[in-house]
Amino acid sequence: MMKVAFYDAKPYDEDFFTRQNHSGALEFIFHSFRLDESTAITAQGCSAVCVFVNDKVNRRCLEALAQHGVRLVALRCAGFNNVDLTAAAELNLSVVRVPAYSPYAVAEHALALLLTLNRRIHRAYNRVRELNFSLNGLVGFDLHGKTVGIIGTGKIGKLTAQIFRGFGCEVISYDLYPDDGWAAAHQIRYASLAEIYEKSEIISLHTPLTPETHHLINEAALSQMKKSPCLINTSRGKLIDTTALILALKNKQLRGVALDVYEIEEGIFFEDLSHDVLQDDELARLLTFNNVLITSHQGFLTEEALSEISRVTCENLVCLSENKPFLEGTRVEP
Ligand code: NAI
Repeated sequence: MMKVAFYDAKPYDEDFFTRQNHSGALEFIFHSFRLDESTAITAQGCSAVCVFVNDKVNRRCLEALAQHGVRLVALRCAGFNNVDLTAAAELNLSVVRVPAYSPYAVAEHALALLLTLNRRIHRAYNRVRELNFSLNGLVGFDLHGKTVGIIGTGKIGKLTAQIFRGFGCEVISYDLYPDDGWAAAHQIRYASLAEIYEKSEIISLHTPLTPETHHLINEAALSQMKKSPCLINTSRGKLIDTTALILALKNKQLRGVALDVYEIEEGIFFEDLSHDVLQDDELARLLTFNNVLITSHQGFLTEEALSEISRVTCENLVCLSENKPFLEGTRVEP
């Protein structure tokens, strides 16, 4: 039976993947630690590894995996910026991902964050529990009529834009490859990044992390944001220069910031550090702003998304074991 080693595996991964493998066609080994060059040896005897966003699948890690007989890296996520695709191709290792498990999950989470941040639900919730029924400091704004800038109009960006349209917002968007038909159908307009920064009262990021989008939101971009917008990032932490973000927050250039992702998540996000000392000073500083809301990369965490992730990944693992081509559109190549 084909063995698969899972890394950074959480109880919900084990639950959904075990359910998906009800026929017992595959043998799963769940590791709670992350995959990197130092842990790759634990994949010995496995034909595939199944990894998530914070596993570090660099060249040395891939070399070790190939040496131990691994033939497939299956990402149980959409993003693949943590895998050295060139090295994988050179080592004859295939890489697959789950390109679209539930764009609704992430788009809806982006809205959940924005609504919470805007109406200060996170603060109101705590206040009322303390029997503090005062409303001071809880003033939000109507979403209706506001201008929203969507950067990246792929699957998630489009849905996010459409939900904002449902609230009666004006949506302007930016993408390297504009979809004019979609934009016209939803009364959405494509604009330059400069116009988005200048006019938006809400900005939501939905591009993948690439060399071009790394620190897309830096000091220069933040200084062009004239309307003190709320900034939402449910995409990848490294799209934002955290140092510049903290400065902009201190200078009151932003009304609020909602993050589901952070620049250096590894070792922090997905872990219970409540009995530990937080070593990341910038994250600690971000947590002190009452207009910053952070969730720990949970945009994907819905039942529908987890079912789809495990279904697509298991089908690809079976394809590997039966020497069949992988599911269409799931293979990632350099
Ligand atoms: P997608 O591939 O459908 O869309 C990405 C869009 O970004 C495309 O339209 C592409 O043309 C555009 N793009 C690429 N480079 C660009 C650039 N330099 N400037 C402007 N636009 C650019 O991807 P999808 O499914 O919408 O996901 C977007 C991102 O969301 C993923 O890459 C991933 O990083 C993140 N994500 C976060 C999750 C979470 O749990 N928070 C879960 C799933 C995805």
